[in-house]
Amino acid sequence: MIKIKSLLDYTVSYEKSINSPENFWEEIALKFKWRKKWDKVLDWDFELPKIEWFKNARLNITENIFEKNIKNYGNTNAIIWEPNDPNEKSIRITYNELFDLTCQFANALISTGIKKGDRVIIYMPMIPEAAVAILACARIGAVHSVVFAGFSATALSDRINDCEAKAVLTSDGNFRGEKIIPVKNVVDEALENSKSVETVIVAKRTGREVKMKIGRDYWWDDIISGKPTVHEAEEMGSEDMLFILYTSGSTGKPKGVVHSIAGYMIYAYYSFLNVFQYENNDIYWCTADIGWITGHSYIIYGPLLSGATSVMFEGVPTYPHPGRFWEIIEKYKINQFYTAPTAIRALQVYGTEPIEKYKLDSLKVIGSVGEPINEEAWHWYHENIGKGNCPLVDTWWQTETGGIMISPLASITPNKPAHASLPLPGIQPIIVDSEGKEIHGNNVEGNLCIKFPWPSILRTTYGDHKRCKETYFSTYPGMYFTGDGVKRDHDGYYRILGRVDDVINVSGHRMGTAEVENAINEHSLVIESAVVGYPHDIKGQGIYAFAICNESSKTKENIETEIKNLVRKIIGPIAKPDFVQIVPGLPKTRSGKIMRRILRKVASKDVSNLGDVSTLLNPEVVDQIIDGAGLKTN
Ligand code: WTA
Repeated sequence: MIKIKSLLDYTVSYEKSINSPENFWEEIALKFKWRKKWDKVLDWDFELPKIEWFKNARLNITENIFEKNIKNYGNTNAIIWEPNDPNEKSIRITYNELFDLTCQFANALISTGIKKGDRVIIYMPMIPEAAVAILACARIGAVHSVVFAGFSATALSDRINDCEAKAVLTSDGNFRGEKIIPVKNVVDEALENSKSVETVIVAKRTGREVKMKIGRDYWWDDIISGKPTVHEAEEMGSEDMLFILYTSGSTGKPKGVVHSIAGYMIYAYYSFLNVFQYENNDIYWCTADIGWITGHSYIIYGPLLSGATSVMFEGVPTYPHPGRFWEIIEKYKINQFYTAPTAIRALQVYGTEPIEKYKLDSLKVIGSVGEPINEEAWHWYHENIGKGNCPLVDTWWQTETGGIMISPLASITPNKPAHASLPLPGIQPIIVDSEGKEIHGNNVEGNLCIKFPWPSILRTTYGDHKRCKETYFSTYPGMYFTGDGVKRDHDGYYRILGRVDDVINVSGHRMGTAEVENAINEHSLVIESAVVGYPHDIKGQGIYAFAICNESSKTKENIETEIKNLVRKIIGPIAKPDFVQIVPGLPKTRSGKIMRRILRKVASKDVSNLGDVSTLLNPEVVDQIIDGAGLKTN
């Protein structure tokens, strides 16, 4: 059974997936198109870690999007593209057309010397070419690594260098709300520090003038011109790399999470179909950016493997007016709508007036992803957008998990506000205490681990397998550690409590505190810094930085502004701290570890319960920091 249609189906599938996982996934895999089938369904060892699904099978993921089904739905829209400006024409691309575009661009990539195994960076706005770029890489077996087009030149060049990319695909600019972002300039700057890139392909979007470097830079339209629209897919191994996606962790450098082909394909498809209960001819819209995992799995791969119509939106929720999302839902009669709590909270501020102008009765399912959705936002979304009768799927998962892990299945398993609820078939969550001992029963809280592999689990972190092992498989040996805290309530439903490591979730974007600190420390006057998250009404969490600075003739305000701008320049606007506080010292334990707990309290303006600070190396700084923040202890 692939599509779960009732609670009983869910129970039966879940049981089977636990009792005989290999049979369970094999049955689903048999529905796909393979050049050669597997010798063994699963080989795994979480200690190493080494995880192989569908061992030695051969396939190409794009044959499962195109060749497998094109007879049935060639004329169905694969992608409907909605531009930033509502007055500009939208674009509809059928599966037949997307197939042609993919093959044509695959031929273009090959003509520049890109081949199987090469890494290609995609630094593009939300335009149809971005989807074509991803699929064309997969078609020829090149490894795509999409970098969110809001990252800075430094962040981009770090990623280019880490994976030694041979090509960068970009555009002449990016429309976002009222802004035009010159992404090509960012690429040019990034490439000043990168030796591996031989080719840059530039899609035309804004028509703004950009510099083109002869012999390196090509216009998209020129390079596809005259190229055939057929291309035989490269035969790939099931465990070959499909993509690398960089994500922040608790240490300084972002890591390249690696997903392999077959397992990812099967899980993206299976989870999409079941969580959203997609039916033929439905129109599905996920508002994420393709620069994040949600865009990979639930704009591109999951929907397209299912023959779905996936809406891709270039703009932002509030441009040109705060009813933009609802306008698009009405325009395309969207059936499934998938967005982030931060967008919901941002739109909640405008009240219900912008919603009342539009008909939302096409909606069957609404979804949430990226961070815990607070109860207030949950109810607002459920009542005003879902009109009280659409199931709200609160989907918990991660870049590393490849697909949705814990979530209601729309209309099938129950909804509970702010709860991701139950695991999907194949997913075996386990709650452990700080020593790694399993916490049994209900009404319990602890750290969330997964004890058995699922097909789309990450395989490694690019170029550094040791880091993968240390980050995910060493805290609790024999288990995958998610980094999230969780509660299992009295009904056995999971509620995600947020990160328990040094990761801050800003508007659903993961930021490592160390990464931000490294950027701050680049300021010539900064001696040391510490960054923490604090609760933020719209973004979920905001960034608060504490910095010790050398004496200088500059005013405090100037230094604070410089630090904020520096972080923006080094990482990107999403990492810019909301607050910078210059402090005389940082609270440290006798072993020299920064006591972040205290800093978090200050940042969240709650210093009522600091606990015993007398054992600190420098207890006197605590009061100085509290004073400096304009707070008072009681
Ligand atoms: C958080 C995004 C609560 C969580 C798909 C996780 C969530 C991190 C939820 C991964 C949710 C994601 N409820 N928290 N429904 N979804 N998270 O890699 O802390 O960008 O570890 O993947 O987001 O973020 P990532």
